[in-house]
Amino acid sequence: MSAAVMSRTARERWWWFLWGLLTVLALGIAGYFVPPYLVGGTTVPDLDRTTPGYYTSLVLHAVPAGIALVTGPWQFIPRLRTRFPRLHRITGRVYLVSVVVASLVAVYSSAVTKSGFPLQVAFFVLIAAWLYTAAKAYRAIRRREVQLHRIWMVRNYALTFAAVTLRLYQLPLLVLMNSVTWLEYKDVYTVSAWLSLLGNVLVAEYFIIQRTLAPLARREPVQAQAPVPVRA
Ligand code: HEM
Repeated sequence: MSAAVMSRTARERWWWFLWGLLTVLALGIAGYFVPPYLVGGTTVPDLDRTTPGYYTSLVLHAVPAGIALVTGPWQFIPRLRTRFPRLHRITGRVYLVSVVVASLVAVYSSAVTKSGFPLQVAFFVLIAAWLYTAAKAYRAIRRREVQLHRIWMVRNYALTFAAVTLRLYQLPLLVLMNSVTWLEYKDVYTVSAWLSLLGNVLVAEYFIIQRTLAPLARREPVQAQAPVPVRA
């Protein structure tokens, strides 16, 4: 087996490992945090139940957001896309509608949350970026610009996945909260939200550069043609 083929196999294995990890985390987080909202419950300690409509907004946000989280990963499998294009289209529509509903409802949750202004800013940035990248991805595919559609979908799912990384960052910070007396749950939530937003955006851009832009940039530049002399 040639070195080139081996490195391709290694790359594919690495891709499947990362995809598997991402999918397990997405299913795990959606499976743990969303179902309580289907039966009037929550996993959040001392959740605010007094602000009118706040709990309902969490239900109407968490359910479609959970659907987006669990449907997203399958859309990135090349073989599924090419063998079942209709399934890809239907799942893609379900995903995008879920993102739009979840983000619009989150406008209300973000406006009334008692978790503080810095967290509200993070949520509003996330909402705007979530809607913008979804609109760009949809527009690109309507124009049959497949590569561009893929790039915007990677960006969009990176934002959806913020729901996972946010909860992962919270774990060590919650442990730290036990020993650092001035640290409050609000601070842990805010730091995790900003870290997940910025971290996921950086990882997505790195991925896009490595997989899509770098191979294009490595291609031979088109030979510049000698200018045709203009006669007076
Ligand atoms: C990336 C875009 C997202 C934004 C802007 C967003 C925004 C919000 C906001 C504002 C809240 C209320 C927080 C508070 O009042 O302190 C919330 C809660 C929640 N979100 Fe999201 N969210 C996003 C993605 C997701 C995803 C993909 C899921 C899927 C699991 C999800 C699941 C939840 C759940 C379950 C809650 C209730 C709090 C809890 O039980 O942890 N969110 N979200």
